[in-house]
Amino acid sequence: DSVLVHAPATIANLGCGFDVLGLALAAPYDTLRLRRTGAPGLKITHLDHYNLPTDPARNVAGAALLALLEQVDEPVGFEVEITKGIMPGSGVGSSAASAAGAVVGANALLGNRFSKLELVDFAMAGEAVASGVRHADNIAPAIFGGFTLVRALVPVLDVVALPAPPLWVAVVHPQIEVKTKEARALLPTTVPLGLAVRQWANVGGLVAGFLTADYALIGRALEDYIVEPARAPLIPGLAEARRRALAAGALGGGISGSGPSIFMLNRDGETAHAVAAALGSVFAELGIAHDLHVGRI
Ligand code: HSE
Repeated sequence: DSVLVHAPATIANLGCGFDVLGLALAAPYDTLRLRRTGAPGLKITHLDHYNLPTDPARNVAGAALLALLEQVDEPVGFEVEITKGIMPGSGVGSSAASAAGAVVGANALLGNRFSKLELVDFAMAGEAVASGVRHADNIAPAIFGGFTLVRALVPVLDVVALPAPPLWVAVVHPQIEVKTKEARALLPTTVPLGLAVRQWANVGGLVAGFLTADYALIGRALEDYIVEPARAPLIPGLAEARRRALAAGALGGGISGSGPSIFMLNRDGETAHAVAAALGSVFAELGIAHDLHVGRI
C-alpha cells in the first residue's frame, strides 16, 4: 500500500491578507511517497540534499503525521520518502507543502476518513515546528487548491475556498536567506486603528475583486500597509522590483509569505512573462542569483 503525492508551493498573505489569504501554485512542488506499515511509528527519509531533520517530531511532515495519528485508533505507521522540489526558506510555503502532502497521503492510505479541514489542522503542527507558530495560510491552499481565506483558527478552524477569475502569477526567488521566525520578529505587536481600517478594507476589496472578476480592484486592494513595510528592509530591490513589475503591466503584488520571494498577479500569460523578466532584471543588476516562475492559477 503506497501513494505518491505532489504537494504544491503556495503564496501566503497575498499582500494585505497576512496569515489569512493564500494561493496554490502548480509548480514547484514537493514529492512524497508514503507507505503504510502495520507497526506504529514513523520513518522519514529525505531523498534531497537539504539535510533537513528526519526525527519525526522535528520534521514538518513527521510532526503533521504525529498529529494525525493521535486521531487514529488502530496500530498504524508510515514510511515517508520526501523529495523537496521547493527550496526551504524560499518564501513559497516549502514547509507547508511537506506537511500538507504527508497528511493528504496518509489520509488516502487510511480510506480518506478525514476532511480537508481536519487535514489542515493536522498539517499546522508541521508549521509550528518550522516557524514556532500555527498558521494555515500556506497549508490551506496547499490542501484545498486555488485561493483560500483562513477566516478563523479558533475556536474552530474555518477555511473558505475563494473563486477567482483567470490570473497568472510571476514569482522571483532571490537567493538571500530570510527565516520566517526572524521575519515575524520584525512585525509590530500593535497596529494603529487607522492603518488597521485601511488593511481590512483592502482584504474585503481583494475578495470582492476575486468574486466579481474586477481586475482593477484586485490590483488596488493587494497593498499591505502593515507587514510589508516592516519586512521590506530584508529584501534589497523590493521597491524597484515592484516599480518595474507595475510598469510591465502587473496588477500588483508584494512579498510572498515572509519572503524573500516576491509575487505579482497578472491578467494574462504574456504580461506575466514580461513581469517575471522585469522582476529578474532588478536582481540581475544587484548581482543576486535568482529563479523565476510563471504560472497560471
Ligand atoms: N503568514 C506567514 C508570514 C507566512 O508572513 O509570516 C510565512 O510562511
